[in-house]
Amino acid sequence: MKSKTEILKEKIEKGKLGGGKARIDTQHKKGKLTARERINLLMDPGSFEEIGALVLHRTKDFGMEKQQYYGDGVITGYGTVNGRLIYVFAQDFTVFGGALSETHAEKICKIMDMAVKGGAPMIGLNDSGGARIQEGVRSLGGYADIFYRNVQSSGVIPQISAIMGPCAGGAVYSPAMTDFTIMVEHTSYMFVTGPNVVKTVTHETVSSEELGGASTHSTKSGVTHLTALNDMDCIAQLKKLLSYMPQNCEDPTLKIPYTLGDETREVLETIIPESTNQPYDIKEVISGICDADSFFEIHGSYAENIVVGFARLAGRSIGIVANQPMRLAGVLDIDSSKKGARFTRFCDCFNIPLLVLVDVPGFLPGTDQEWNGIITNGAKLLYALSEATVPRITVITRKAYGGAYDVMNSKHIGADMNYAWPTAEIAVMGAKGASEIIFKKEISEAEDPAQKLLEKEAEYAEKFATPYLAAERGFIDEVIEPKDTRKKLIKAFAMLENKVVKRQRKKHGNIPL
Ligand code: COA
Repeated sequence: MKSKTEILKEKIEKGKLGGGKARIDTQHKKGKLTARERINLLMDPGSFEEIGALVLHRTKDFGMEKQQYYGDGVITGYGTVNGRLIYVFAQDFTVFGGALSETHAEKICKIMDMAVKGGAPMIGLNDSGGARIQEGVRSLGGYADIFYRNVQSSGVIPQISAIMGPCAGGAVYSPAMTDFTIMVEHTSYMFVTGPNVVKTVTHETVSSEELGGASTHSTKSGVTHLTALNDMDCIAQLKKLLSYMPQNCEDPTLKIPYTLGDETREVLETIIPESTNQPYDIKEVISGICDADSFFEIHGSYAENIVVGFARLAGRSIGIVANQPMRLAGVLDIDSSKKGARFTRFCDCFNIPLLVLVDVPGFLPGTDQEWNGIITNGAKLLYALSEATVPRITVITRKAYGGAYDVMNSKHIGADMNYAWPTAEIAVMGAKGASEIIFKKEISEAEDPAQKLLEKEAEYAEKFATPYLAAERGFIDEVIEPKDTRKKLIKAFAMLENKVVKRQRKKHGNIPL
């Protein structure tokens, strides 16, 4: 007769096999790791503690009572990542295709509740055929229980979703409500309705990859913030992402040890081109300012006219929002405003100070933008920055024109320190456009209108295409040499470390959605 300990060990070993060897082999053949392998890669060796390993589903329909697998298709638990506590669930595709049953959902909800109580990030590794079809509405209820918790946890602890297989139908809305989503290229997809339904309803022929693969969601829809080459790369990126964020909204900004040295960066003197209309790569400015190799870009292939991401400055985690003159001259449009706003709000939730780099010629004109709501969408970035209470510093490298000057973390909307480089042009619009309007009569009546326009442009540029009018007003705190930027920012962020903002009492604001 087996001892009680042997019975326990047997159950645990059985549970570890998930849906069995054959299904594990199929998972590997698809180039995917199993749920357990993914967790082992994510967590520090030996740190993972499983919870609910012996849970079984309760369905009796369709002969399901005979198909029982310990854990019911999802592994949940806690452990450490680089020494810090993390909670995780990983759906096991080898058990009913990772489909979500009532009990599967209960396990996820339990670990989500524990993550909030324990004040540590919640990571979801998604790989699932969706609602467990044999369970009907019980499964749908399970999804809603998860969604509700996603919202309650939002802003309390960081929530990150990795999509490492199918994620379709209602299942997509949990990742959509978490802070960051990363998709594995070619083995994952996300859509509300799959290619077959699309074909029936809209008569479009589209593959799963085209409809909702990593490349689609990282470039066209912006649904995913990051993409990974494979499961290993996905886990490595998750760890990197976690390294910038505190455990919860009460924790201070993360800092890693750093010894100050000569923080002058001559390279910053060489980036802005002679001609004001010539593009340059704002990422060169970012890498010149931040600690070596510390910049981790988010949404890198989506709305590239704005760059957002995490970095370190003298060891301190910061979030960066920067116009990118290399794409559409760095103009603000609907997608870039949404991208900037979402990132800003994450940083503000989790005490990550913000650095805003400005080179913006204004908002993108056109019927497409107006009819699709650039007004409401542009307001998102304005609102998100205005309400952010984390330390906020602005550096204007070149253009800050029109309403976009206000939006891009201007002094007026609560920025703490506003710097400008001598190359800054802070004005209502560019010198040419401005001269054509205000000197219209003079130019048209001139003997040589083209020459007159050039003269007037130069006159306007000398007066307005500089940082000095703004500095005279105190809208700019200091005009600095580019090479001193890093030095100044290190000091200013340290000065702002204990910044306190008393907010007006209210239920919550009403950001234009
Ligand atoms: N409910 C219950 N079981 C499911 C399931 C679901 N939603 N999705 C998949 N499974 C099971 C399959 O029956 C199969 O079981 P088996 O191992 O005992 O044969 C196993 O999971 C793997 O599925 P399979 O179809 O063989 O894998 P695949 O890689 O070829 O395809 C999907 C994966 C997700 C595309 C496909 O399974 C599918 O379309 N599932 C249904 C999706 C859906 O409509 N969900 C409900 C709405 S949210």
